[in-house]
Amino acid sequence: MRLKDKVAIISGAASGMGASTARLFAKEGAKVVVADLMEAEGAKVVSDINDAGGEARFQSLNVTSETDWEATVSETITAYGQVDILVNNAGVSGSHPDRLNIDTWDEQMNVNAKGVFLGMRAVIPTMQEAGGGSIVNISSISGFVGQRFVHMGYNAAKGAVRLATKAAAVQFARDGVRVNSVHPGVMPAMRTSQMTADPEVRRKMLSAIPIGREGKVEEVAFTNLFLASDESSYITGIEVPVDGGYLAV
Ligand SMILES: NC(=O)c1ccc[n+]([C@@H]2O[C@H](COP(=O)([O-])OP(=O)(O)OC[C@H]3O[C@@H](n4cnc5c(N)ncnc54)[C@H](O)[C@@H]3O)[C@@H](O)[C@H]2O)c1
Repeated sequence: MRLKDKVAIISGAASGMGASTARLFAKEGAKVVVADLMEAEGAKVVSDINDAGGEARFQSLNVTSETDWEATVSETITAYGQVDILVNNAGVSGSHPDRLNIDTWDEQMNVNAKGVFLGMRAVIPTMQEAGGGSIVNISSISGFVGQRFVHMGYNAAKGAVRLATKAAAVQFARDGVRVNSVHPGVMPAMRTSQMTADPEVRRKMLSAIPIGREGKVEEVAFTNLFLASDESSYITGIEVPVDGGYLAV
């Protein structure tokens, strides 16, 4: 088992790529904290994991709240004794039809950028004390390039995640804390997707992908697994696109 005896907190684990990552990490031996705003959906992921013989618990978390993050870390330590892995995955879509909307900019920076910083800020002291840990920050292809159907706040927030990852990697490497970013391409639409959930828009987006199809949530989960595990022990500060070749064009 690739994560035997590890404890992982995964934000946004009630849905999509976070839920897939939670299920995979549990299968690989991790004790998993499914942290999300959505209690019913999160509880379902937890009961599926526990029914399959794994170990998981739900944690109510709004990633924009410093006190929620403090509670998440302290309750994880009470339940499982340690925090080895954080996957900063929670996010909201930026495919807002009003591309000059100010509220969208603020929401993007608050949830998708600040939420990731608060997560790192909450777990790093515990990881330092324990002698190490692995943080995987979920950015996007939008952290590299602009797109016609996405509000610029999403790109700015995902770009912030990409560079904050490198800064954290450099600053905490000597403490044994590794920090990397994963950049999914066109995946199944997010719960909050507007324009990019439109079939015509999706058809245009898919035509720009060399592999010729959208990604599967499991393909991101397997990448998260490698970066979270000790298999990647000499890797920190990198960015891994999981995008069917989108950024290679
Ligand atoms: N779906 C895509 O095409 C795509 C592409 C690139 C990157 N991403 C990124 O991947 C990550 C996961 O996206 P997904 O496709 O699984 O989306 P999703 O909408 O299925 O899941 C997002 C999860 O985050 C949770 N969440 C949202 N705001 C939160 C908050 N403030 N506090 C706690 N939890 C919160 C939601 O409740 C949900 O469970 C996001 O960071 C997203 O930006 C998605």
